[in-house]
Amino acid sequence: MSRIHVVGAGYVGLVSGACYAHRGNHVTIYDSDRKKLDEIESAQAPFYEPELEPILSESIRSKRLKVVRDVKGGVDGFDFLFMAVGTPSKRDGSINLVNVISACKAIGTTLGNQSGFPIVCIRSTVVPGSTAGVIKTVLERYSGRLVGESFGLVAYPEFLREGSAVNDTLSPKRIVFGTVDERSSRYLEAFLKSFYGDNLPPIVKLNPTSAEMVKYAANAFLGVKISFINEIANLCEKYPGVDVTDVANAIGLDPRIGHSFLNAGVGFGGSCLPKDLRALTFEARKRKVRLALVDAALSVNERQPERIVELAASELGRLQGKHVAVLGLSYKPDTDDIREAPSSKIIEALLRANAKVSAYDPRAMQNIRGVFGHRVRLTKNPRDCLKEANCCLIVTEWDEFTSLKPDDFLELMAEPVVVDGRRIFGPKIFDERVRYRGIGLSSSGKPVR
Ligand code: UGA
Repeated sequence: MSRIHVVGAGYVGLVSGACYAHRGNHVTIYDSDRKKLDEIESAQAPFYEPELEPILSESIRSKRLKVVRDVKGGVDGFDFLFMAVGTPSKRDGSINLVNVISACKAIGTTLGNQSGFPIVCIRSTVVPGSTAGVIKTVLERYSGRLVGESFGLVAYPEFLREGSAVNDTLSPKRIVFGTVDERSSRYLEAFLKSFYGDNLPPIVKLNPTSAEMVKYAANAFLGVKISFINEIANLCEKYPGVDVTDVANAIGLDPRIGHSFLNAGVGFGGSCLPKDLRALTFEARKRKVRLALVDAALSVNERQPERIVELAASELGRLQGKHVAVLGLSYKPDTDDIREAPSSKIIEALLRANAKVSAYDPRAMQNIRGVFGHRVRLTKNPRDCLKEANCCLIVTEWDEFTSLKPDDFLELMAEPVVVDGRRIFGPKIFDERVRYRGIGLSSSGKPVR
């Protein structure tokens, strides 16, 4: 079993650390946020992620996962260090490497004293060239040693999704890593073989800069795919009887296109896709390359949350003084994360138009309270949210909302106007009973069946 030190207890660090410990490795975890460490120590996840808590509490109880208060790790040293600190966006779209660099400086000072061949794996999303460039330089300067001689260095990007992070970690579709030195590659591959056993996914071994590029290209492609279907959705609305979900289903049957990431909606959010697309276009501009498609995906995404507000306004006339119920606040289901969530832009637009806003989300209430304070009435359940509303906006496709029936809207709302930003309801059934509008569905909307 390996000794693993994880730096950064966010989605990537904490989930992978808990999973490594769960399968018998000895893991230490550090984060600069003391409160987060206290929570983890008492076996509580600092954020909502399905399936994480049981693994976390078992790993803490068995002492295979230990919280440490020093970025350099425990006294015993480590075989692998997984660096998973945040790389937030700067104003100009580039990423801020300050957390990575300061952790690398501290780690560097311990690398010189460690026995064996410790390997530093960069799991934070860093722009192409970072690992073989500034990260390598800092580690070598602060350790006084050379990569490949007394320690290893790997760019090992992560592809897990929030909401299914545990499953994605235990059963990834592929592993991509890039090494500066051959020994790191062999050691990491041996670790992965023992960790995944018979479930070992395909491993793609590259140089570090290519591995970093894979991460950005993957997220850029996903963003382009979503913005593409959102553009088609906005066009479908102009053709009576045309529904983007039919179009997406039909084009997705072509295996060259595929079904996934063709759900039209209110746009992509979260801490990754928007940030990574911005960082990639920034890096491209620095190199005098214009990423026209990625730029366009970002600008479509910037406007897409407004579309649902426009649909509401087209049904209600004026939004001023109208009560709008917003169902769903997290950027996607199964998470409490509201970073860059379309819900914030939608609520801002509603408040600017002087609408009264009530809102409900199964997990993200506390986080949204921090953003909007008492400007939004937060309710205990979806039914309270709908009471006396003139319009309901479906913003996140939580399972809990799919069980709502036309009768619920008729019974509870002042006016039964439902604008479905995630296309969770059947248009035929809803259109017959309530005033139903949906992203990608024309207003004269009775779908021709
Ligand atoms: C994304 C990638 O999917 C992961 O592979 C990657 O590891 C991660 O970013 C990262 O870089 O760390 P995540 O942000 O957790 O994962 O969520 P996604 O499932 O990709 O969804 C992103 C956004 O796109 C959400 O707001 C979601 O509602 C939206 N989306 C997704 C759509 O609007 N339509 C779709 O068809 C799919």
